[in-house]
Amino acid sequence: MKSGRHFLQIPGPTNVPDRILRAIAQPTIDHRGPAFAELGRETLAGLQRVFQTTGAVVMYPCSGTGAWEAAFVNTLSPGDTVLMVETGQFATLWRDLAVRLGLHVDFIPSDWRHGVDAAAIAAKLSADKARVIKAVAVVHNETSTGVTSNIPAVRRAMDESGHPALLFVDAVSSLGAIDYRHEEWRVDVTISSSQKGMMLPPGMGFNAIGANALAASASARLPRAYWDWQPMLRDNPAGFFPTTPAINLLFGLREAVRMLEEEGLANVFARHKRFAEATRRAVAGWGLELWAACPNEYSSALTAVVMPEGHDADALRKVILERFDMSLGAGLGRLKGRVFRIGHLGDFNDLMLAGTLAGVEMGLAAAEVPFIRGGVTAALDYLALPAGSVRL
Ligand SMILES: Cc1ncc(COP(=O)(O)O)c(C=O)c1O
Repeated sequence: MKSGRHFLQIPGPTNVPDRILRAIAQPTIDHRGPAFAELGRETLAGLQRVFQTTGAVVMYPCSGTGAWEAAFVNTLSPGDTVLMVETGQFATLWRDLAVRLGLHVDFIPSDWRHGVDAAAIAAKLSADKARVIKAVAVVHNETSTGVTSNIPAVRRAMDESGHPALLFVDAVSSLGAIDYRHEEWRVDVTISSSQKGMMLPPGMGFNAIGANALAASASARLPRAYWDWQPMLRDNPAGFFPTTPAINLLFGLREAVRMLEEEGLANVFARHKRFAEATRRAVAGWGLELWAACPNEYSSALTAVVMPEGHDADALRKVILERFDMSLGAGLGRLKGRVFRIGHLGDFNDLMLAGTLAGVEMGLAAAEVPFIRGGVTAALDYLALPAGSVRL
């Protein structure tokens, strides 16, 4: 028995706020009835506002991986080439999924410490005179590294090369945490899910669909059944779904959109930026290194911290879990043991961040990791600055 709240400071799934838990804790209703139709319409319209699009958004009972698959099978054909960038573990997993679907992937290598290099995309597209590349697929916020990519720059590079490839963006850990504009940035398909900035439990995946992607779906030949957009797009306008939707998660989604809009999306993004800056000040104060290499690519949703040579991040995480009941994100893939990740997204406030950083500082001491005491103080000093005095 552990008293008090567990600190779930992994970069997703994130803490589910009480308002959403209460919204979910209702009797399940008939998904073909009038009350549900209203819930369906309201949540789909709410998702459009969160994705910042007037185009269609569809949702499936699935995790983010299902939404990745839905994006590809609706728009591409066997053997099509997809240009992807190895920004980290999630870009790598998305690449693997594409290969298993029978797509050919041109995977631009990277050191995992940088975001997408738009110039590299431009060079690949300009060299592709035969137009074999059918899509560019990039991760907006690499949850494995704490590095974001500049999506408008990727779009510009694509426009300047005059190449017709579709643009797919994974916004799984940025939606509801970092400014993301599906329509303004002219993304063709955006992929996201419920369990991160949307503050919901895992279980829902989303595709925001642009007009060109929709047109491509008419001739795409990858096999699709469950993931087919068409039955969704047929039934959704009336608030219904072709299969049984995650009804209670939709109650939660309605509440999540209300919460995001009561705060205002711009304020939500500014809040995340401020938490990220405070976290980085703590890391600097501890004398530890950030994994992300470039300040203009620092993630507002999470911070990956490099372990000092000879020390294992998983051993530190184990001490912090056992002693202080806090979960931190593990290093994934090639970063296993080398970094730990502090999630600071979703339903989160100054004191939760203070507690999180205190847990890390106590853990560093308890695990006998060499560090400088007082990183927390640097973060607290920043958080205590008068509201409006910090430029975000
Ligand atoms: C950026 C990103 N993309 C995709 C995924 C995969 O989503 P899921 O684990 O929900 O299938 C994750 C999961 O953490 C993620 O962070």
